[in-house]
Amino acid sequence: MSQSNGTAQKGRTLKFHILRFDPQLKGDKPRMETFEIEEQDSMTIFIGLNEIRKKYDASLQFDFVCRAGICGSCGMVINGRPDLACRTLTNTFPDGEITLLPLPAFELIGDLSVDTGKFMRNMSERMENWIHEEPDAEPRKLTVLEEKMDPDVATEIYELDRCIECGCCVSACGTARMRKDFLGAVGFMHVARFEMDPRDKRTDEDWYDLIGDDDGVFGCMSLMGCEDNCPKDLPHQNRIAYLRRKMVSAGT
Ligand code: SF4
Ligand code: F3S
Ligand code: FES
Repeated sequence: MSQSNGTAQKGRTLKFHILRFDPQLKGDKPRMETFEIEEQDSMTIFIGLNEIRKKYDASLQFDFVCRAGICGSCGMVINGRPDLACRTLTNTFPDGEITLLPLPAFELIGDLSVDTGKFMRNMSERMENWIHEEPDAEPRKLTVLEEKMDPDVATEIYELDRCIECGCCVSACGTARMRKDFLGAVGFMHVARFEMDPRDKRTDEDWYDLIGDDDGVFGCMSLMGCEDNCPKDLPHQNRIAYLRRKMVSAGT
C-alpha cells in the first residue's frame, strides 16, 4: 500500500487522468479525461476524486464505503498498480501525474466502478466458504460455534481473515486475466483459512475436488502479482505453496 507522511507540496497542481466509460450508455466509448486540482495535506486519491466530482463532473463513477481501508470497495489501478484509493496519498507521486483505471478482471459498472461483489459471491459459493461441521454441511447448520483453539492456529486464521475482498490480487494476476474460471488468490486465501480451521471437517479429498485442477491451485503460475499488490499484505506465496503441496499429495 502506498503511504507517506501526507504532507502536500505547497500549491502543487495534480493532474488526474481518468478512464471514462459507461457501458450502459448507448454509443459511449472508452476515453481518458484529465482533471486538474490543487493538492491538499493528507490528500488521498479518494479525496481527489470527490473534489473532481464536486468541481467538474458529478457523473464520475467510483466506489467507496468506509474510507479507512476496511470495506475493500475502492480498489482501482493507480499509476499501473491495483491499490485502494482511500489509502493512497497523492504525495506519493512526485510528478503529480495520476492515472486511474478500473480494476481489470471484474465486470465494469462505469468509469472506475467495477462489480467485485458478483465475483466474490460466486467464489464464496463455489468454495463453500463456511465451517463444515460435517464434510457436507449446509450453511447455518453449525452447532459448535465456539471451542478451544490453539492460539497459534487462531492467529494464523485471523491473519487470513483480514482479507477485505478488494480484488487487487485478482486484478494483478496474469492467470486470472487468461482463465475466466480461475479461482484467484483471494479464493486461495479463503480456502487456506477454512482448511486450517480445526472446526472444519472437510478432508484433503474434499479440498482436492474444489481446487485440485487448473482453475484452482494448479493453474497458479506463481506470478506473485497477488502478494506484491495485496493492500493487507496477506501471505499469498506461503499459503499458495502450502495448498499446492497438499493437493499434490491428495491427488496421488
Ligand atoms: Fe484484497 Fe489481499 Fe484479499 Fe486479495 S487477498 S482480495 S488483495 S485483501
Ligand atoms: Fe496469480 Fe498469485 Fe498465482 S498472481 S498466478 S495467484 S501467485
Ligand atoms: Fe473502504 Fe477504501 S473505501 S477500503
